[in-house]
Amino acid sequence: MANETSNKIVVIGAGNVGETICYTLMLRAQVGEIVLVDVNEDRAKGAALDISHGTAFYSQVRVRQGGYEECADAKIIIVTAGVPRKPGQTRLELAKVNTGVARSIAKNIMKYAKNPLIIVVSNPVDVNTYLIQKETGLSPERVIGTGTSLDTARFRYLLSQRANVDIRDIQGYILGEHGDSQVPIWSSVNVAGETIDHFLPEDPKEKEEVKDAIALKAKTGGADVISLKGATFDGIAMSTFRIVESILKNQNTVLPVAHVLGKEYGEELEGSCISIPCVVNADGIAKAIKITLTDEEREQVEHSAEVLKNFIDDVMK
Ligand code: LAC
Repeated sequence: MANETSNKIVVIGAGNVGETICYTLMLRAQVGEIVLVDVNEDRAKGAALDISHGTAFYSQVRVRQGGYEECADAKIIIVTAGVPRKPGQTRLELAKVNTGVARSIAKNIMKYAKNPLIIVVSNPVDVNTYLIQKETGLSPERVIGTGTSLDTARFRYLLSQRANVDIRDIQGYILGEHGDSQVPIWSSVNVAGETIDHFLPEDPKEKEEVKDAIALKAKTGGADVISLKGATFDGIAMSTFRIVESILKNQNTVLPVAHVLGKEYGEELEGSCISIPCVVNADGIAKAIKITLTDEEREQVEHSAEVLKNFIDDVMK
């Protein structure tokens, strides 16, 4: 493994998300250098300078503004550029603008990078991950979308609140689209070895109402934050950091992230770009985990993939 100081990460987009990712990486990741790329060079210079001023308290990380040529020797390239969602706007409605941005970013990266590892954050993240993988021609395992990793974190947070149990003892996934068709995989939920039923009402109707409320809050988590403070960037930065950490430390962490699927989940899902649990390590996605889904969950995941496929077909027209 390369030593920490040799790890260079390029963050494309120096808006709230890109800057917060940069800040989080400086605090937590084993990186030697972070380069911020943005069409607004002053924005990137200002964010880099602001974070650099704080390195005295943490570690000697070189943080600076640069151009796409910095991708040539980057260990990881993180794509955050794009127009952020407005209150009441869906991520897919954003696509009309942001998919064009994603394609041009992909072209610019490949002018300099040979076989990069790309983490896609910009929304609609599943569509952008698909488009960047196609535009770059990289192996699907090397183009990772943050996908439902943040939705899953919100789901686990809500479950930990319900069960009053440390979130680190709560397992469970939200899979599919990072958006309205996402699927809470209740059959995957595990609270310190117990099923979630132990923490839900016994009455079947009440139990479903509580489960539906938790799943809805997880789904609207981003919109809730946007309606309160205008944008989300802290949660997604921590989610992105976790993917970076598993790559840099070669941890083989299982994370619900998006990539263009192979045959793991059958022909119905092959070629779609949705989030499923994946083993993430120094080579990107080492493998997709084929978790057991109930028939209903499988149908919902296939529906989610269909929603995204139809959308991508529209965008590619
Ligand atoms: C959110 C953005 C990352 O859910 O889509 O906060």
